[in-house]
Amino acid sequence: MNQENKVLIFDTTLRDGEQAPGASMNEHEKLEIAYALERLDVDIIEAGFPVISKGDFDCVRSVARHIQHSTVCALARSLKQDIDAAHEALRSARRQRIHVFLATSKIHMQHKLKKTQEEILQMAVEAVKYARHKVADIEFSPEDASRSEKLFLYRILEAVIDAGATTVNIPDTVGYAMPIEYGNLIAEIKNNVPNIHKAVISVHCHDDLGVAVANSLAAIRTGARQVECTINGIGERAGNASMEEIVMALKTRQDVYGCTTNIQTQEICRVSRLVSKYTGFAVAPNKAVVGANAFRHEAGIHQDGILKERSTYEIMRPDDVGFVGTGLVLGKHSGRHAFRVRLKHLGIELSDENLDKAFDRFKRIADQKKHVFDEDLLAIVEDEIKIFEKTWGLVNLVSKSGTNIKTEVNIVLKSKGKNYEKVSSGDGPVDACYKAIDAITKIKGELLDYSIQSVTQGKDALGEVTVKVKFDDRNVIAHGTSTDILEASAKAYLNALNKVLTPT
Ligand code: KIV
Ligand code: ZN
Repeated sequence: MNQENKVLIFDTTLRDGEQAPGASMNEHEKLEIAYALERLDVDIIEAGFPVISKGDFDCVRSVARHIQHSTVCALARSLKQDIDAAHEALRSARRQRIHVFLATSKIHMQHKLKKTQEEILQMAVEAVKYARHKVADIEFSPEDASRSEKLFLYRILEAVIDAGATTVNIPDTVGYAMPIEYGNLIAEIKNNVPNIHKAVISVHCHDDLGVAVANSLAAIRTGARQVECTINGIGERAGNASMEEIVMALKTRQDVYGCTTNIQTQEICRVSRLVSKYTGFAVAPNKAVVGANAFRHEAGIHQDGILKERSTYEIMRPDDVGFVGTGLVLGKHSGRHAFRVRLKHLGIELSDENLDKAFDRFKRIADQKKHVFDEDLLAIVEDEIKIFEKTWGLVNLVSKSGTNIKTEVNIVLKSKGKNYEKVSSGDGPVDACYKAIDAITKIKGELLDYSIQSVTQGKDALGEVTVKVKFDDRNVIAHGTSTDILEASAKAYLNALNKVLTPT
């Protein structure tokens, strides 16, 4: 495969993805995701929009300092102060890109920017020139490109390429375009922008009408060689094009697209899980590529076909995307060695001390639960690792509730080697439990969001509770798992509290 057929993957999970309402992540979480993206072999990581807040600036700077191979990109409006902030945040990156944008559609120019076409053109050119003096790798995005007047779009693209832009991105900002139209737009840009061969054409699609991935693929067919996308498709409103779907479509349908990417696809599920964990956005079970049901076969005819020949009903192999199987892996008779080997297979290596603690928890769960699946193991480890570091830990929890009796919870927590006990009543066991925790810790949290999902199937499945809690002015997302949903709820709340008490 030659370079012309290589599609660059530009991941914007940490920027556009984080713009999804309620998805904000802290610096430590973003850095962990950036490391995971680098393991995926993403070409460009858009780490944030440094001028908008100190938090965003710090996150971009931290990603820039730690990422070795991927290009680190920062977003800027076509304003000097934005470009300066982006440049400063990227200073220590080995490979730096500044992404400058400015709206070019009539609607945006008239109502949002209140500027004429000529003023916009001049601003864009000046911004690109200014950024190009600082960094060699410059991307320009005419925001709302798909609704922009075409002749003006061609003019501005030609002008910014002359000014030094090395990538020109064509955003379908509001998810309005249809695949046939969007694919044609890229072909028309290739035919009508005289210096287009000097830049990479990039695409950036939103999913308002559910066609972000289809649009991105249509654009690749007609010449785009960079795709902007996010893990799990998270992003503004209905989200961005999902990276895993685009990458696996290109890989599975090489015959149609004839293009490759650098992506190490076997890392996909791991990153998907991480993003879901840190944003608190559960992945729908039927989500293509990474959903829990993506490789499960329920119908008898399908199961029979799969057993005879996998390709009857499977167009991708679960291993290709690092999909964790649902096969029975361990039970109460499994030993420490088998536990360690299985974790290693899942890509987790723990220190001896952490392994002991995780194994202890596994044994307790295996006693209550007949089958321990890979997903259970991942949940146990994620939960347990936090327990090692925590300030407040759960020692014991007893609840009394029923149709005609007052709900009461008795909880014992441990902190710095000392136990604290409290009995509280409330509007249901979760409320009573959280009131008791607030009373013991003397820190009041406001529960903004609460959801529960089963990690595996069956009545004895591990339940994973996700909470979003507000402590003063900080919103924190955390998880807790247990076969007992009240215990999972208590752990999730305590994990949120511990996150606030031990900031990273
Ligand atoms: O959707 C959009 O237009 C954007 C730009 C900043 C590229 O996110
Ligand atoms: Zn966008």
